[in-house]
This record gives sequence, structure tokens and C-alpha cells, in this order.
Amino acid sequence: MTISGATRVLVLLGDPVAHSLSPLMHNAWIADHGFDAVYIAVPLKTEGAVAAIRALKPFGFAGANVTVPHKEAAAAAADRREAEVANVLRWEADGTLSAFNTDGPGFIDALAEVAPDWRARVKRVLMVGAGGAAQAIARTLSPHVDTIHFVNRTGARADAAALAIPNGRALRWDDLERGFGAADLIVQATSLGMSGNPDFEWPTANIRTGAIVADIVYRPLETSLLRGARARGLTTIDGLGMLIFQGARSFEHWFGILPDTAKARARLMAALA
Ligand code: ATR
Repeated sequence: MTISGATRVLVLLGDPVAHSLSPLMHNAWIADHGFDAVYIAVPLKTEGAVAAIRALKPFGFAGANVTVPHKEAAAAAADRREAEVANVLRWEADGTLSAFNTDGPGFIDALAEVAPDWRARVKRVLMVGAGGAAQAIARTLSPHVDTIHFVNRTGARADAAALAIPNGRALRWDDLERGFGAADLIVQATSLGMSGNPDFEWPTANIRTGAIVADIVYRPLETSLLRGARARGLTTIDGLGMLIFQGARSFEHWFGILPDTAKARARLMAALA
């Protein structure tokens, strides 16, 4: 890659960003397509993220991804937004800023990849967690399923997440085993099981035959939940699924072309190995 005065710049804004796999993923796709562009991670350490993002307008950046903790600020800073939480920004030729959310659609892409018939199979979803990732996935799944049950360590956040979608319900953490037994799709959207964080003894024996189990954690790629689900012969989705497909949809917003997700998976697996 040669960086010149004409090279277009894409940025990842968040805090922290040092361990992000997005620069690797996007720069490889940029090279695949021979674009004169570069994707860099920029830590944005500020309380005033809305003003900081608005102030980026005159810099001529081609686009941005936004991650924790600035996704709400990114949506608020934009002139036009798909949702109140955004992970993609694009500065338009007319000087305006557009915000998109590809996290939820990216999760659905990952689901459709392993289970093309998911719409027929998935009626009841169990969402473990009630943070930003859980809410983004739930919002996108909601119109396509009967119910989404949230179970979260802090019950009040499960209640709030359930209220935010029409078919949301909250379960107590004590009801986890029952929730596992009732779901066609289980989505683990907490940091449990991530390296450096506590793990959990998931009640995988309770999961229904034919259910699909997803974990958003990708360090390690095979979490104890996925290992347990695979031992049961269940269809699983690892944490690279959503990461890669939200990235592919981001790339499409900036460059108008969907990049190769299989190549990205091979590269990211090599980087994690
Ligand atoms: P994100 O935006 O990435 O989802 P978040 O909003 O901080 O991040 O949410 C993290 C999720 O992991 C929450 O559901 C959190 O539960 P709480 O709402 O009770 O904090 C969950 N989580 C983190 N550590 C946990 C732990 N040790 N046990 C259970 N849940 C945990």
C-alpha cells in the first residue's frame, strides 16, 4: 500500500480501539479492490463526542466506524440517521453527515449464513445481556420473530431493553435455565467468556434440539458456550460472524461494493490464532 496526498482516509472512532480487528479487515479489503484508501483507528477520548464528531466535517474523511462508547453520539452528530445508535458514518459530497447501523443487519447476515432457513426456525429468541450489542441485535430481529426474552445480570437493564421493542420480555437471571430450554435462538451478548473476563457455566444441556446458538465473543473464537452447543450438535455462530458482516455492510456504505467475507474470515482467524 502506498499512501499519497490523494489517499482517502477512513477512521475507527472509539475508546479503546487499540485491539480492534477492523483496521486489518478493512485495509485487506481495500487492497483486494485496489482502492487508494487507508483505514486507521483513532482513539476518541472525550465526553463531548457529539461536538468532536461534528467537528470532523471539514477534514474530508471518506467515512468512519464508531464503536463503544460513542455510538449514540455518532447518531446524534449526523444530519441523517437510520437509528439512534450508529456504528457507521459517511460524509456526503454536499457536506452533510449520514449515520447507519450495520450491527443488527450484520448479525442477521451471520445467522442467514449458517441457517438460511432461520426465519422458519426462529420464533423465540433468548438474548443474554442488555447492553448496546444486545439491543442492536434485538432491534433488528424483533420484526422477524415472535418474542425476544432478555436475561441480564442487572435485571433493570433487561426490563428497559424489553420495553424498547414491541415483543420484548424480561426474565430474571434465576430463570436462565428455563430461558435456555424455551429458545430457538440463543444470543450471548455479554462479555462473559471473553479472555480476561469471568466465564459462566451455561446450561447447554437444556437447549432445545434444533436451536441455534450465537456468541458475540471472538476472543477466544470457541467460547465455552459454543463448545457446549457444538457438543450437542447444534448450529452455532461465533463472534467473528457479526464483526465481519457489519464490516462488510460498512464497506458497502463507503465504497458501494460488498467485499469478500470469506477472505475476511480466513484473515481474522489467522490473526486470532
Ligand atoms: P456492549 O455495548 O458491548 O453490549 P455493555 O453495554 O457494557 O457493552 O454491556 C455489557 C453486557 O455484559 C451487559 O449485559 C452486562 O451486564 P450488566 O448490565 O449487569 O452490567 C454484561 N456483563 C458484563 N460482565 C458480566 C458478568 N461478569 N456477569 C454477567 N453479565 C456481565
